[in-house]
This record gives sequence, structure tokens and C-alpha cells, in this order.
Amino acid sequence: MGLHKPDNVAGSSAPAIMVGLFVATGGLLFGYDTGAINGILAMDTFKHDFSTGFTDENGRPGMYPGQVALIVAMLSAGTTVGALLSAPIADQWGRRLSLIFAIGIFCIGAIFQVAANNVALLATGRTLAGVGVGMVSVLVPLYQSEMAPKWIRGTLVCAYQLSITAGLLAASIVNILTYKLTTAAAYRIPIGLQLTWAVILAGGLLILPETPRYLIKRGYKEAAGLSLSRLRRLDITHPALIEELAEIQANHEYEMALGPDSYKDIIFGEPHLGRRTLTGCGLQMLQQLTGVNFIMYYGTTFFNGAGVDNPFLISLIMQIINVVSTFPGLFVVESWGRRRLLIVGAIGMAVCQLLIASYATASGDTDIPTQHRILISFVAVYIFFFAASWGPVVWVVTSEIYPLKVRAKSMSVSTASNWILNFGIAYGTPFMVDTSAEAANLGSRVFFVWGTFCILSIAFVWFMVYETSKISLEQIDEMYERVDKAWHSRDFEPSWSFQQMRDFGFSESGIPPAQPQLELQSSNASSSQSDTGGSSTTNATTTTTTTTTTSSQDDKMLSQMGHIDLSY
Ligand code: BGC
Repeated sequence: MGLHKPDNVAGSSAPAIMVGLFVATGGLLFGYDTGAINGILAMDTFKHDFSTGFTDENGRPGMYPGQVALIVAMLSAGTTVGALLSAPIADQWGRRLSLIFAIGIFCIGAIFQVAANNVALLATGRTLAGVGVGMVSVLVPLYQSEMAPKWIRGTLVCAYQLSITAGLLAASIVNILTYKLTTAAAYRIPIGLQLTWAVILAGGLLILPETPRYLIKRGYKEAAGLSLSRLRRLDITHPALIEELAEIQANHEYEMALGPDSYKDIIFGEPHLGRRTLTGCGLQMLQQLTGVNFIMYYGTTFFNGAGVDNPFLISLIMQIINVVSTFPGLFVVESWGRRRLLIVGAIGMAVCQLLIASYATASGDTDIPTQHRILISFVAVYIFFFAASWGPVVWVVTSEIYPLKVRAKSMSVSTASNWILNFGIAYGTPFMVDTSAEAANLGSRVFFVWGTFCILSIAFVWFMVYETSKISLEQIDEMYERVDKAWHSRDFEPSWSFQQMRDFGFSESGIPPAQPQLELQSSNASSSQSDTGGSSTTNATTTTTTTTTTSSQDDKMLSQMGHIDLSY
């Protein structure tokens, strides 16, 4: 399954895995906060306490549609703002402090909501909590990818999606448990509970290390060494650690030699930043256009409208499938790779959706139990494919494909495009499905729309997504330089050493001189390098260049390390 640490990886991956899994639980806030509101809005006590005069057809107090839209939409507005804010903050304060800050804003938002006794205060709390969630949604995968060893990087980011799904499930369960209460506790408990995990997460982050890559970006080489030493459980003087750090630094210098790191550069900059940003934004938008949140947000209403018995239970079952099915993705993301998993997932989702839509069109919207069973089964299989592929892998790919200099900026823009579409779909779906005069009355045929986007997604992955498994974040730069077609990326073998390239001067095109020329230069320059103690070892696939003046002890160490993979 590819979840065993390769024998030739130096040090221990356990600290990085534990840190990565702990930070992944930031996804709980994301899932819980987006999931809790639907149930809360449906609670009688909530409607009674917040109604400003609106009554439903049975004369019971309720909310004006504009108020419901405000409460729901403010979270999305907040998340988009939060995602965009996260980049300047993360580049200035670091990934870890920014995460603590984001959780702080989230907590203030949650406290506003718990204390709210009117719509204005509630909407303000939702906006603030949204800003926090939006920031978390960029910073967690950013933090994880920048500290993880390459062999398990994708799996760790998948664990973040697992937490999102667990948060969504937890929100439904808590709502079910409290909705019958006749006091304000019915909605205050579900809102307040999210504070518990937020505080634990922020507390834990206080003692976790900053990512080595961020520290290199800011020029704090020593601190980067200490951080990497904690994460890899290797002494700061260990050659493998020195090598990893030197390669990260040389790669960053290489990126900077190709141009600045401004917002303009995420589109026009090198190496191929426009293509990479487009890939991330496209993936994030398509993830939403697969229609998953139609089920997550409107599942109960949809099953109810289709005449299914016990729509609450069915929605809960879908949430459980969503959590459990993330595991297969988590186990195969490294061995299958990102591209294959995304393509298989999109095919599976498209087939389910087109079958649901075709069946619904052919049989009409009748109230037949067999039809319900077919509908429920295909929705369940669809959720399986989403949860095992596009749910986690989109976060994985967008946390990997950008170079360090613009990583936070590009991730924040692509994640913001996810939230904008998230909002658009949450807001627009009722207009597509409803039976009212202004709506398109698509019913189950709305699955034609999602199915079509899934087919588009297959093509998008084939043409745009590069295979990023098994190589280090630095080697991904080399891949974008050397492989011009995404569908050839699977066969890519890294061969550049950014240190060697730096030592002999980056060429303007960013492409290093031919290998024999480098080797020649390397042997001429060897003695001066050993004087400064600079490491001139190349990465995994190239040979180690030893110098004539290296001490015999170093020689012994290097020969013992011949089998060690120095490119994490
Ligand atoms: C998506 C969310 C969605 C969730 C469902 C996430 O990856 O970004 O919009 O609600 O998956 O599990």
C-alpha cells in the first residue's frame, strides 16, 4: 500500500507523522462549522428565539428567507476573506503562528454565536468564524506539506480531509442529539462545542515547530535546521539533515533567481507559475462542481422531496460513508499517485450521477420504493468515490504543486476559489431544484449538471495535473521545468541538484547546464568547496560527488550513506 517508511530514509518519520496528524484535526473546525448550521436553522427553539415576526404556513415562528440567506452566506463570505488573508499573514508571521491566530479568530466568532440573541450578532459571529475557517483551510495543508517527509506527505494531507468529514458527521450527530431540547441549549451546545477542540489545537500548536521551509524562506537557516532536526529526529549535524536543508535552500534561491514572488507572479512568474495556479484553482472549483455539497447541505431536503422515508437517517448514513470512504484514498494516494486516483474517482462519480439523472428522467419523479433504493444506493456509491478521491486529493495536490516562494499566495487563491464555488452552489442549488415558479425544477435531473462537470474533471486532470507523489517539493520544480505534458509526468525521474546548480550559477532559463559539463565543473571546483565545508552531494538519483581533500572520517560516513535517500 506504500505506507511503510522506505528503508533508505534516514532518521525517523514518527515525529513528523504525529505533528501532521495533530494539525490535520484543524479540518474538524472546517467540517463542523460548515455542517452545524443546517440543523440549527431547522430547530424550533432557534426559530422561536430568533424570529422577528415571520410565521410559517402553520402559524409557527420562523425566519425570513433573507435572514436565512444572511446567516448561511456570511460564513462563506468569511471563509473566502480568510483564505485570501492567510497568505500575507502566513508569509509574515509563519505558518504556525498564523494558524494559532486563525483559531483565535474562529473562537471569537464562536463566542459571538453562542452569546447571540439576535440575527445581527449571530451573522457577525458566523462571519468571524468563517474568516478563521477560511484561514485554517489554507494553513493546515500548507503546514503539513512543508514539514512532511515526501513518502507520506499525501497521506498526511488526506488525514486533513478525514477530519473535515469527521467534523461534518459530528455536527449532524450533535444536532440530532440536541434538537429536541426546549431551551436555547438546543443550538448553543452545538455551537459552543466547537470551542473545545479549537482550544486544544491552539494549545498544541504552541509547542509544535515552525515549518523548516518557511524558516528557509525567511533566511533563518539555523532555526530551520533545529525544526528539521525535531521533525526527522536526526542530530543537527547529521549529513542527511544538512543535505535536506541545503537542497531546500538552494531550491529557494533557484526559484528566486527566476523572478520575484509577488501576486502578479503567481500568474506570470516562472517556473510555470500560471499553469500551476490554474491547475490549483481549476481542481478546487471542480471539486465543488462535482456536487458533493448538494448532498452535504441539501441531502435531507432532497431525500425528503424525493419521498424517501426517514431522510434524516439517510443523510446521516451518507455522512458516515463520507468518513469511512476517506480511508481507501488515504491508503492508495501514494502508491496509485494523485492523477490515477483523481481520474478513477471522477469516472466513478460521473457514472453514478449520470445513472441517477437518466433513471430519474426515464421513470419520472414517482413515489416508488425501488426507485428510492436505487437513488440512495447510487448517491452512496457517488459519496464513496468522492471521499476516496476528489475530497482528499485536491487538498493534497494544491499543497504540493507550488514553489516555496509563492506557495502561500497560490494556495490561498486556489482555496478561495473553492469557497466562492462552495457559496455559489449552496446559494444557487435551491433555484435549480425547487418546484416553485422561479426555480428550474430539475429535481433529480440536477445530477446531469454534476455528472457533466465530473466528465470535464477527467479531462482536466489528464491535461493539467502533474503526478507529484514520491518526489520532494523541490523536485516538483524540476518536473515542471523538464516535463511539458502532464500525462508524461508519471515517468519523471528527478536528476537535478539545486545545490550544484547554484554553485555553478543558475542559467537564465532556469535549466542547468548539461550533466557532463556540470560534472566537469564539479571536479574542478571540488577543493574550494571542501574548504568551506559545503556539501556537494546530489539528490537521490545522482551520485555523491566526493572531494579529494575530504577528511577520512567524512569519507567513511559518506560511503556508509551511499544507500540513503537524501531527498525527502
Ligand atoms: C470540500 C467540502 C466538502 C467536504 C465533504 C471537502 O474536501 O472542500 O466542500 O463539504 O469535502 O467531505
